[in-house]
Amino acid sequence: MAKLRLIQCGVGGFGSLWIKEHTSKSPDFDLVAIVDISDKELHGSGDAINFPKDKRFKTLEEALAKVEADAVLTATPPVVHLPHAKLAFEHGLHFMTEKPIADTLEHAKEMVDLARQAGKQIVVSQNYRYNREVMKLKELIKQQAAGEVGHGHLDFYIPGDFTGTFRETMDFPLLVDMAIHHLDLVRYITGRNIERVTAMSFRPNWSWYRHEPGLKMLMELGALEHEPISHRIPFSYSGDWSAIGQCTTWNGTWRVQCAKGSIHWDPNGIAIHRCEKWCKNPTSEVIESGPLELQGQAATLHNFAEAIRTGKPAETSGADNLWSFGAVTAGVISAKEKRPVEVAEILGR
Ligand SMILES: NC(=O)c1ccc[n+]([C@@H]2O[C@H](COP(=O)([O-])OP(=O)(O)OC[C@H]3O[C@@H](n4cnc5c(N)ncnc54)[C@H](O)[C@@H]3O)[C@@H](O)[C@H]2O)c1
Repeated sequence: MAKLRLIQCGVGGFGSLWIKEHTSKSPDFDLVAIVDISDKELHGSGDAINFPKDKRFKTLEEALAKVEADAVLTATPPVVHLPHAKLAFEHGLHFMTEKPIADTLEHAKEMVDLARQAGKQIVVSQNYRYNREVMKLKELIKQQAAGEVGHGHLDFYIPGDFTGTFRETMDFPLLVDMAIHHLDLVRYITGRNIERVTAMSFRPNWSWYRHEPGLKMLMELGALEHEPISHRIPFSYSGDWSAIGQCTTWNGTWRVQCAKGSIHWDPNGIAIHRCEKWCKNPTSEVIESGPLELQGQAATLHNFAEAIRTGKPAETSGADNLWSFGAVTAGVISAKEKRPVEVAEILGR
């Protein structure tokens, strides 16, 4: 099958991982141009993979004028995602963006509308979904391995140092830039949308971020098809991107409480714990996760190619992502206005 032609924008930071490990080695795409406003990043990453000098550009406009392509990937700061999406669609190309889809929900909606009008695919790289433990957890919950799901909790504690990058100064760095992965995972693993969010965001005294890297949040997950529409499941979130001490993994530490036991996902893997009343006769069942052919970014890149080839939206399409980014935005509004926020309302549904 002929390869698709890809322009990658943003080759510093996380984009350098994209180019070195994925876009330059993809079985689905030929990398035909790279773009970065920074000479250091453009040539540092370009030289690292021996990429032709005449295919390195400072702007996407310039790249689009000089090379033929089928698709654009942007791994730039969120404020750049909408302008890059506009350019891609104006030139009849498909578009994949790093998370979060955009800097604001309005821009995210605009990107999804533009893709629809252009008849092109828009995909968000929610790479955390493509992880063997995520797949196993999703399967256990679907099979009701510990009975009916009643509620859940997720902890995330990693003292990130993003000195000099946009996260150091942005508003709500944890909620917007990191928890987007976790909220997307909550939706994916449980199969339920996040319908209502009540959030408290804060800045611990010791924090080195300009804004608030701490978050306590309650999410209410919606009903499955066979359940009454009013059935909502509470799922809470605690996190601090400036927490010195015991760290979680980037996926966080999970407890999903079910009728007959609790399902746990932590650095040791997945386990189901069961017991009787007063904690009598406790048992622990360690659950093995099966192999996964494509993981993380490799999976989202392949899914992007499949969406282009088949014309069917990817699992992490822009339209699907509005529910994840909508939940993040509901958290931001809730934290600012100190009230619960309905996600459907801000999505205009
Ligand atoms: N999926 C993940 O696990 C993951 C991990 C890290 C970052 N990200 C996301 O990737 C995106 C980039 O984050 P980062 O950490 O790499 O940021 P960064 O600031 O470290 O790097 C961004 C790169 O984009 C370049 N750039 C900025 N504006 C540009 C423009 N207009 N045109 C072309 N290049 C431009 C910069 O020069 C830099 O090389 C963000 O949306 C971030 O949330 C995702």
